[in-house]
Amino acid sequence: MKKWLGMLLASVVAVSFVLTGCTNKNTDNSVIQIGTNAEFPPFEKLEGDGKITGFDADLIQAIAKEENLKINFKHYGWDQMLDGVSRGKLDAGMAAITITPDRKKKYDFSIPYFDAKQLILVPTSSHVSSLKQLNGKRIGVQTATTGEQVVQEMFGKTYSGLKGYDDIPSAVHDLELGRLDAVVVDNAVIMEYIKKLGQGKYKIVEDPSIKTEQYGIAVHKGNQALLQKLNDGLKKVKANGTYDKIYQKYFGTEPQQ
Ligand code: ARG
Repeated sequence: MKKWLGMLLASVVAVSFVLTGCTNKNTDNSVIQIGTNAEFPPFEKLEGDGKITGFDADLIQAIAKEENLKINFKHYGWDQMLDGVSRGKLDAGMAAITITPDRKKKYDFSIPYFDAKQLILVPTSSHVSSLKQLNGKRIGVQTATTGEQVVQEMFGKTYSGLKGYDDIPSAVHDLELGRLDAVVVDNAVIMEYIKKLGQGKYKIVEDPSIKTEQYGIAVHKGNQALLQKLNDGLKKVKANGTYDKIYQKYFGTEPQQ
């Protein structure tokens, strides 16, 4: 009887130890939760082994190292990630996120870390040479991105040729299948696809009327302490050459400044 009681007690202690151990791990406040949408190479890409690689992945690791931050950089759907940051389920989001006036109302943004522009990807045979000329054509974008925004600004929010996708790889896939006439997406991402899709099959159309953009890290609104650390880290990696090294790794050149 005594032996039984002892064993029971021991297992209760063991179980609760394991449980608290687990809970502590999951709710460890010292680990900063940073969401991304890893379907946007060369900025973020989910590898087969579950690892996230890319410019943003390297840059956030470098910032974290500089500022002694423990981070968890994790893949989510684009909408889910943005929503998570605005509701505070995530501390921040880094996913080639363009700083826009609308988004500034919902998030605090770090200092800009990358200049970008929307470009148009079309088959080489296409006669389109401006955004306007896509009128009546089927245009693929990632839903709720600035790519979608430029198309809506040109053709209206309810333009029937506008096809929104959860991610860019699906849109590019539809372009390859001939289900789209064009894809509008960030410049560096288009460059990546041009390389991948095979020589001479696709071309890029740049429209001078499309405004340039800047990427920032979106921080849960009001988290001044984190914002400050990310900004400090960004400034340091820019000053010590780490940023340039990462840039070189993904773009093969020095950043133009
Ligand atoms: N720069 C664009 C935007 O902010 C597209 C970003 C998409 N990023 C991604 N990881 N899917 O709207």
